Amino acid sequence: MFVNLLVLLIVLAITFFFGRLTVRAVKAQRMWVKILGGLGAGLLTLIVGFVAFAGARGLITSYFPGADPAPDLTVAGTPEQIARGEYLVNIACVGCHSPVGPNGRPTGEYPLSGGWNIAESEGFGFIGDMIAENLTPGGKLKDYSDGELFRALRYSIDRQGHKLGMMSFLPYRELSNEDTEAIIAYLRSLPPVPNSSPTGDNMNFLGAVMSGAGLFGEPPPPAPAIVNAPPQGVNAEYGKYVATFGECRGCHGTDMTGSPATSVSPATINPRPFVTTLTLEEFIQTMRTGVRPSGTPFSEAMPWQNASMMTDDDLAALFTYLTTEP
Ligand code: HEC
Ligand code: HEC
Repeated sequence: MFVNLLVLLIVLAITFFFGRLTVRAVKAQRMWVKILGGLGAGLLTLIVGFVAFAGARGLITSYFPGADPAPDLTVAGTPEQIARGEYLVNIACVGCHSPVGPNGRPTGEYPLSGGWNIAESEGFGFIGDMIAENLTPGGKLKDYSDGELFRALRYSIDRQGHKLGMMSFLPYRELSNEDTEAIIAYLRSLPPVPNSSPTGDNMNFLGAVMSGAGLFGEPPPPAPAIVNAPPQGVNAEYGKYVATFGECRGCHGTDMTGSPATSVSPATINPRPFVTTLTLEEFIQTMRTGVRPSGTPFSEAMPWQNASMMTDDDLAALFTYLTTEP
């Protein structure tokens, strides 16, 4: 953070310097100095000024997002909560928060000790690090109150009040209060596993400039304070909720109609036309095996493993949602 603020100060100083130079060139006696010098220095002032503006904007959004205080709550940690939390975490979190395997990607297996540098692994390491956190009580979360952990999941704000870069793009702010508390109950019940490698965000100034310039895509809308899940059932409304905790909407867009490319991620296709050609049985089979009825497997970029752990009813609700007009 301090290095980034220092870089911002330097960039501001350079903007000021070019600004002064522009004024001096314009006031110069000779015509060619006036025109060429004025234009050149003026253009440089604009460019560096824009970099300073975007960088400041990016830094403000990530370090001073204007977080509300963490709610005052205590999660009971009943066996029902822990069981529900385990179901949700197995679907939604293991794919990123498990340890890194020999191929440089998360193993998808326990413990949830984190360490996967998504930025580096997905080819945008030039913006800095974005490393999945240790979610066991062996990491930083043991010092969080239940309310602080709730705020982290609902608003993507860490204990210091900074924005969580990756988490803020995932759809968990739409999880119900009940399910968010179930996840907290389950994470608290895990055996502590220490992880000595670095975790969390470490964005550099280029990352701040790119984020301030809006190159990572539109920030998602702010979360409401109270969220209730639609009642469980095999219908489109609950299916949309399944697509939320199933992480599907994080990639395929809020309405599951596909999402455009950003400077750090490729476009994702609209899965609805394909799903509409399937029967429910074929859809379940495809999601459980990762292989389409035609025999074509999903590419590695499609984490069907999330969906493979869903109950038949949740998959049926998802199918209904995907085959109903959004
Ligand atoms: C796409 C990968 C991805 C998925 C899926 C994901 N996380 Fe994260 N998580 C991250 C990364 C990366 C960080 C580090 C901070 C950041 O960039 O957001 C993180 C940080 C966290 C933190 C740390 C908060 C803090 O204050 O530092 C918590 C808690 C967390 N995740 C919980 C979860 C839970 C619970 C789920 C499932 C519901 C989940 N995450 C799913 C990638 C992911
Ligand atoms: C990390 C991003 C990501 C997430 C999360 C994700 N998908 Fe996908 N999905 C993709 C990509 C990329 C493809 C294209 C894969 C390919 O070409 O094999 C895809 C393909 C698909 C297809 C096949 C579409 C076709 O025309 O062949 C379906 C169906 C689908 N996803 C449904 C889902 C569902 C349901 C979920 C949630 C359980 C989900 N996806 C979660 C990225 C994602």
